[in-house]
Amino acid sequence: MKATIPEARRREPVLRPRLRCALELLGEVGILADIGCDHGRFGVQALKESLCKNVIASDISAPSLNKARILAEKCGLENRFEFRCCGGFDGYIEREADAAVLLGMGGELIADILESRNYIAQKLSRIVMQPMRGEAELREYLYKNGYHILDEAVCLDAGRYYQLIAASYEPENAEPLPSFFPKGWYQFGAKALEKRDELLLPMMERYLGIMEAKLENAAKRGEPPEALVREVGNTKKLIELFNIDAR
Ligand SMILES: C[S@@+](CC[C@H](N)C(=O)[O-])C[C@H]1O[C@@H](n2cnc3c(N)ncnc32)[C@H](O)[C@@H]1O
Repeated sequence: MKATIPEARRREPVLRPRLRCALELLGEVGILADIGCDHGRFGVQALKESLCKNVIASDISAPSLNKARILAEKCGLENRFEFRCCGGFDGYIEREADAAVLLGMGGELIADILESRNYIAQKLSRIVMQPMRGEAELREYLYKNGYHILDEAVCLDAGRYYQLIAASYEPENAEPLPSFFPKGWYQFGAKALEKRDELLLPMMERYLGIMEAKLENAAKRGEPPEALVREVGNTKKLIELFNIDAR
């Protein structure tokens, strides 16, 4: 028998866990900037759930931005949107948005976007970020540039783990990584560990498996790279810390 799709699902795509998790980290804000909005689903859902008043949706690609425009119109929300074709915060001025999301981009790109117009990023009350890779580089940038980590979460979406970070520029409140953390190692989040995020442990275990396999292969070819040895050692240490806390 052919499976039937519920009516509501046919009308609107269900928000993916990755974006749902970002919505939860966002909370209630005023004007939301969705940088790299692409399909525009995040802004639409934030409006539907009354998490923001209006959305400035921007993307470096005009065809991507157009997808957001079409979705907003389809949902009758076009009057609550402003659309801008620009890279990062290039088309923004200070304080016109209260909060921003940068989702589904590389961690280094997110850090570059924050840095290149830092006078705009630094005025936002909350920035929610979801790097596709380069989590350590992004976290290192945040820790070294006066950002206070407000919250962190891990989500599992279509078999892949993602890390999410909410932060704001508050040099006076910014804390260093806890002393029990491997020094200068930003691969996983202290806040996620502190709040015992239930997906942190399986994500670290998967990461450890990947790093150990890489190390084994490298060892067969000769001297294993120091960076890989460090990744394995540090991940084991964090797993141990997580398990000690659990007892
Ligand atoms: C993988 S999509 C993510 C879409 C959506 N944010 C999400 O998480 O589902 C990345 C989007 O970022 C846009 N993008 C890439 N570099 C950008 C930049 N420097 N500034 C703004 N948008 C950018 C791309 O055009 C693309 O639409």
